[in-house]
Amino acid sequence: SDPGLVERARAAKAALGDQVFVLGHHYQRDEVIQFADVTGDSFKLAQQAAARPDAPYIVFCGVHFMAESADILTAGHQQVVLPDLAAGCSMADMATFDQVEECWEALEDAGIADDVVPVTYMNSSADIKAFVGRHGGVVCTSSNAKRALDWAYSKGSKVLFLPDQHLGRNTGVLEMGFSLDDCVVYNPHRPDGGLTHQQMRDAKMLLWRGHCSVHGRFSKESVDDVRARVPGVNVLVHPECRHEVVLNADQIGSTEYIIKTIEAAPAGSAWAVGTELNLVKRLAGAHPDKNIMFLDKTVCFCSTMNRIDLPHLVWSLEALARGEVVNRIEVDAETAHYARVALDQMLALP
Ligand code: 13P
Ligand code: SF4
Repeated sequence: SDPGLVERARAAKAALGDQVFVLGHHYQRDEVIQFADVTGDSFKLAQQAAARPDAPYIVFCGVHFMAESADILTAGHQQVVLPDLAAGCSMADMATFDQVEECWEALEDAGIADDVVPVTYMNSSADIKAFVGRHGGVVCTSSNAKRALDWAYSKGSKVLFLPDQHLGRNTGVLEMGFSLDDCVVYNPHRPDGGLTHQQMRDAKMLLWRGHCSVHGRFSKESVDDVRARVPGVNVLVHPECRHEVVLNADQIGSTEYIIKTIEAAPAGSAWAVGTELNLVKRLAGAHPDKNIMFLDKTVCFCSTMNRIDLPHLVWSLEALARGEVVNRIEVDAETAHYARVALDQMLALP
């Protein structure tokens, strides 16, 4: 990365000192992650958001829903900055508040809303989290989905899982013992989600029809290909991958789990990793004694994670050093209140 920009980021961060706390998700570029005070998966970053209450500014190097969650979890006492407002998440955008309300009405019409506990993946907007909080549900991440579902099924006989159908299905089938038929897909673009009331009543899990376009690129063929090319390779994938990929993988887990697994792996072992490319490249660079490769032949960056680059980071840090808060992410008080209920429920999971 540009040495001039690296120097400017360093200078601005030094000038801010304890005034700023920089959080970085594992999918961030190397040029950005080097300035993070804490790096983590979505769960760790949610836990860490409030770890430095004396810092008036949090610079969140990640995507919009993560910055919103940090604002909610710090109760607006700290100002959360997202260096580029265009850093959204296409999966989070697949569930809008109006669509989720409409879905709930359909569940009411089918006579099952009282039995349903909503569970939303962290990768959702604050108003979806608030909806879930209002309806007695919980937020989850890829590292605690099973625990969140165990909790939800202790409260009701059915779950509406938002917005990632793959994380929901993979957890339901592989960790909760459900059959594929127990999980039905609710399509927000069809009346009643494309389901009959009977199908809604028979389902154990209603999966919102959302997905991650980055992880959606991996297929069973990617796994078969790499196994044919690299004998003895271990296939390690993120649970946002399609069910056929996860079924054929050796290990499944969040970004933090992926990092720990590679760190603990013996020298000389081979790993095909099915997750975002910045992370896989960083792991390959950090472990030259292991053969670490990307699971697919085509490259797979998350374009919105990549929006946060060094120029945007420098711009936001320099602005803060002048006392000017740019790109603040602020969730309104009522939404924040109910979203916090669902987030706190996650943080309190056994
Ligand atoms: P985790 O960091 O929780 O594994 O999530 C991955 C992701 O897609 C974040 O957008
Ligand atoms: Fe969203 Fe997928 Fe990018 Fe994560 S990797 S931020 S789920 S689009």
